[in-house]
Amino acid sequence: QASAAVKYTDPATGIIFDTWGIANGGSQTQGGITFGVALPSDGLSNDASEFIGILTCSSKDTINTGWCGLSLGGPMTNSLLLTAWPKGNTIYTSFRYATGYAMPDVYTGDAKLTQISSTVNATHYSLIYRCQNCLKWNQGGQAGGASTSAGYMVLGWVQAFPAPGNPTCPSQITLAQHDNGMGIFGAVLDSNAANPSYTAWAAKATKTVT
Ligand code: HEM
Repeated sequence: QASAAVKYTDPATGIIFDTWGIANGGSQTQGGITFGVALPSDGLSNDASEFIGILTCSSKDTINTGWCGLSLGGPMTNSLLLTAWPKGNTIYTSFRYATGYAMPDVYTGDAKLTQISSTVNATHYSLIYRCQNCLKWNQGGQAGGASTSAGYMVLGWVQAFPAPGNPTCPSQITLAQHDNGMGIFGAVLDSNAANPSYTAWAAKATKTVT
């Protein structure tokens, strides 16, 4: 998995992302996975507390299968985890936190996700979202974070084939261990990651799915 970012401009919103991932057809995960970040204009010199993310994951068998996850610290454990899956035309998300390699708990910190856009089709689901208070985390006093001014983030990804149980109730999903690939890598932030339009883009995040 490459550390260098690929620039992606979302055609509908004009949001510019640094993206990384595994191409559709790659051997590490069926269907491919892509994730990206856009940072506030000063995010490469001052640590950002939020970002706009893009997450595109795959459904293998049929529409509305699969879930995918990001670790904003890299490892599964002791990092803020974001889990996403499709149901109907909606993408649901749940922030999670794990202290061991078992079903992660609901995250109890103040991270907040609002959606900018989403698409669901037979093979992929894709979400553009604003993630506030996502780069520092605290689960019952256990704190950590990611520093955007460091010029890179350590990110982890996983993908799974089955749909979660209880898919329309994010705090009560049930998951089996991910079975469609995983990775952890240093995602190098280049100059495309931060943009003066960030505030205007973030204002497009108006949809909350609970
Ligand atoms: C890695 C179990 C859910 C993110 C692992 C590994 C195990 C595991 C055993 C290590 C595998 C290896 O090294 O070969 C589970 C179980 C889950 C679960 C049993 C739920 C029932 C999740 C979720 C996320 C996640 C929801 C993210 C949203 C990761 C990541 C790795 C990983 C990023 C690779 C980095 C690392 O090894 O720490 N998981 N997991 N996992 N998991 Fe999970």
